[in-house]
Amino acid sequence: MPTEAEQAYLDSTDATRAKRMKWFRDARFGMFIHWGLYAQLGRHEWAMWHERIPLGEYEPLADAWKPKPRAAREWAALAKKAGMKYMVMTTKHHEGFLLWDSKMTDYNAARRGPGRDLVREYVDACRAYGLKIGFYYSLMDWHHPDGAACLTDEAARRRFLDFTQGCVRELMSNYGRIDILWYDVSWPLKSPEAWESYKMNAMARELQPRIIINNRSQLPEDIGTPEEHIKAEETGRDWEACMTFNGSWGFMPTPAEDYHSARKVIEMLRTATAGQGNLLLNVGPKPDGSLPREAVERLADVGKWLRKHGAAAYGPVDRAPIPGTPTWNALGGWSRKGRKLYYWCRQWPGRELAIGGFSPRVRQVRLFPGGKPLPFEQSCDPRHFFSGWGEPTTNDRLVIRGLPPTCPDKIAHTALLEITLKQDPTAQR
Ligand code: GLC
Repeated sequence: MPTEAEQAYLDSTDATRAKRMKWFRDARFGMFIHWGLYAQLGRHEWAMWHERIPLGEYEPLADAWKPKPRAAREWAALAKKAGMKYMVMTTKHHEGFLLWDSKMTDYNAARRGPGRDLVREYVDACRAYGLKIGFYYSLMDWHHPDGAACLTDEAARRRFLDFTQGCVRELMSNYGRIDILWYDVSWPLKSPEAWESYKMNAMARELQPRIIINNRSQLPEDIGTPEEHIKAEETGRDWEACMTFNGSWGFMPTPAEDYHSARKVIEMLRTATAGQGNLLLNVGPKPDGSLPREAVERLADVGKWLRKHGAAAYGPVDRAPIPGTPTWNALGGWSRKGRKLYYWCRQWPGRELAIGGFSPRVRQVRLFPGGKPLPFEQSCDPRHFFSGWGEPTTNDRLVIRGLPPTCPDKIAHTALLEITLKQDPTAQR
């Protein structure tokens, strides 16, 4: 049970949520950046742990790291080109190395190899490209002497919390407006009380009244963060699925086939859109800050596709599918904005598309973007009964005609049909 003060904190974040979340709900697509000492190893950001690398062997990576100047500009330029609206960068990952100029420890980018504040460069780059700014911060810390001891030693816990809160304070104080505070792994402490999460997040909000905070400090806060899968949170709860591009968050030179295709990223975006969520797609820059070629190429294609079809994804969307339309269809899937349904067709059927189990009355069908209205027919064969899997199903069919013989989209073989209903489907229920 939260105390009275904690409850007051929860109530005040609830009261401001809709306003704070506005840009996020419209944004749909962001870039996650995992960059740290581990990039030099190229064996996943958990290499220190997977290989149990002793501190004495890992720490020299801090002096050896010499990223090129202003690498963040390349990331921000690519994010913009890809149609992303925000970025989230690891300011400190589990390895415990701070990417900013900090007074909390000299195990930081300004005092060691890079010799400069990499968070500052990132923030400047985001601003130059008009992207919202997120800071990832790992609560778990494999470097801090109290990072594990805090579980069993009260004095160590106090020191570690002071360190943690000091880091969060610097991040929230030194870079102007920050849009997202993205915590990660809250090992080893077992409750928000043990982490002093209420106090820490209240401090962050005092310094950054518009901030959005994720759910990884053992408080639900503003957004859910499904990881490596895209699944909507319950209605009314905001969420963002974070996904690797190639199976690793930190730079890892995997075979090109391991990178998601543009087509796959677009399908991930559709799934997020259908559930009123966002997609935070990760790129792991190389040690010098340059980006893997595969990510650059594929994101450029995603951007090309979004410039033509983005209306189906960006902006306020409603949940899809809706009752009376099929949840499963092998040729494509849905997103929705009020009366407008978007059918993201991944498997082109030829000149005619039939969608079974589709009941709402249709006003107009167009091939997106801007195509002329297509002929369609809605019918029902009452003599035949199809059973689904326990889902109520009908024989209602929507048949759309006059389509081109081959898929009109050459970027990702994902064409979009805009189906406008006669009535708002939520109002119909
Ligand atoms: C995880 C991993 C981590 C990654 C993160 C992204 O919890 O520990 O390496 O940063 O998820 O969501």
